Amino acid sequence: MANELVKIEKLQVSYKKSGSLAPALESVDLYLEQGQTCTVIGPSGCGKSTLLFILAGLYTDAEVEIRGRVLSPEKRRMALILQDYGLLPWKTVWDNAMLGLKIRGMSNKAKQGILEKVLRDLGIWEFKDRFPAQLSGGQRQRVAIARALALEPELLLMDEPLSSLDALTREALQELLLDICQKTKMSLILVTHNIEEAVLLGRQVLIMSPGPGRILNVLENSSAGNIGYRNQQAYFEQCLKVRKLLERGINDAC
Ligand SMILES: Nc1ncnc2c1ncn2[C@@H]1O[C@H](COP(=O)(O)OP(=O)(O)O)[C@@H](O)[C@H]1O
Ligand SMILES: [Mg+2]
Repeated sequence: MANELVKIEKLQVSYKKSGSLAPALESVDLYLEQGQTCTVIGPSGCGKSTLLFILAGLYTDAEVEIRGRVLSPEKRRMALILQDYGLLPWKTVWDNAMLGLKIRGMSNKAKQGILEKVLRDLGIWEFKDRFPAQLSGGQRQRVAIARALALEPELLLMDEPLSSLDALTREALQELLLDICQKTKMSLILVTHNIEEAVLLGRQVLIMSPGPGRILNVLENSSAGNIGYRNQQAYFEQCLKVRKLLERGINDAC
């Protein structure tokens, strides 16, 4: 398909551990079109981070055995945000946000202009000379998001990015992410273990079960991103559906 961004077929991943193979993902399919959002939800240890890392091309053959087809957007612009923000404590907000561009040798004047706009859009421009320790959790997460957005990614991969934030900050950042996706047509794959977050953000919700990680169900959730969805009956019903599927998956795995 013309606007296909990610295509994974029958992905099988095992970790190499002292001469043997420990399966982490089994027969995983994932298809994402440009501009779409996808959330991945499942219990701890079901391979969510592994899936993101494979997509980001971060594993080498020495560490894992990969079988199946991964047509990931390697040649496209992609950014990954990890759970712990990945900020360097000795660098200012500006330098931390500039890091991604620097690593790619793209920290020229034009890119600095882009970063300034991103910091302003995210409401953290006034903190540009502060250090991470002088920021709240929500502000730190915004710096991590700024670092990723400065790369102008087509695809943003996020690994439980909002899990350590308080409820209101978390909601504000969820809205911000939806807004960015809509304005920039950026695609998003976000891993979470929070049901409400998965349903709010993903137009496609992948529900995973452990031992080894499999996709139990793909929930079509086309209202994600609509204004006011958080307070609608349809949203609560989708949350309930995901909860039941997750419970069934965990019971089956036990
Ligand atoms: N680098 C690694 N080496 C060996 N095993 C790993 C490694 N990373 C993860 N695993 C194992 O693979 C499985 C899936 O892990 P992970 O992808 O981190 O799950 P999740 O993010 O859903 O919690 C777990 O059983 C975990 O112990
Ligand atoms: Mg994880």
